[in-house]
Amino acid sequence: MDYIKHNKEEHSEFKKLMKKIEKASGKEKKKLFRKLFVKLYGHHNGEEAVVFPAVKENVSGKDLDTVLEMIEEHKLGNYQFSVLERTSIENETWDAKFAVLKEVLEHHMDEEEDEFSAIAKKALSKKDREQLLEEFEEVSEKKEKEKKKDLK
Ligand SMILES: [Fe+2]
Ligand SMILES: [Fe+2]
Repeated sequence: MDYIKHNKEEHSEFKKLMKKIEKASGKEKKKLFRKLFVKLYGHHNGEEAVVFPAVKENVSGKDLDTVLEMIEEHKLGNYQFSVLERTSIENETWDAKFAVLKEVLEHHMDEEEDEFSAIAKKALSKKDREQLLEEFEEVSEKKEKEKKKDLK
């Protein structure tokens, strides 16, 4: 499979999971939040270690700016994740903090599916994008496991 297609599929899972978190409460909410945290930690790390560098190497100008923007958006998401992890689920600001995370991530995923994917398609061959997926999965699975351990 092509990385671009896989990316879109994973994003749609994340989007569904975020809606579930919004509706949940108490322990279930925390559990679902941590699931999202772990999965996205793997996803972001895979993109940062494998996908973004491969595309970055082959672009310039405005396209390069878009790739750099993707990386900065990850950082914003990661920051908000760490704030939420430190905030009690019972705190009255938790939902507001989560709503901000959701907005940042949805914006990021949409941009990655549209602008970034178009750039990646121009910059890399189909074969490259398939190879990229294999490497992405390797990093992403490893990082997911690390984060899971971390949160215990
Ligand atoms: Fe992504
Ligand atoms: Fe991303």
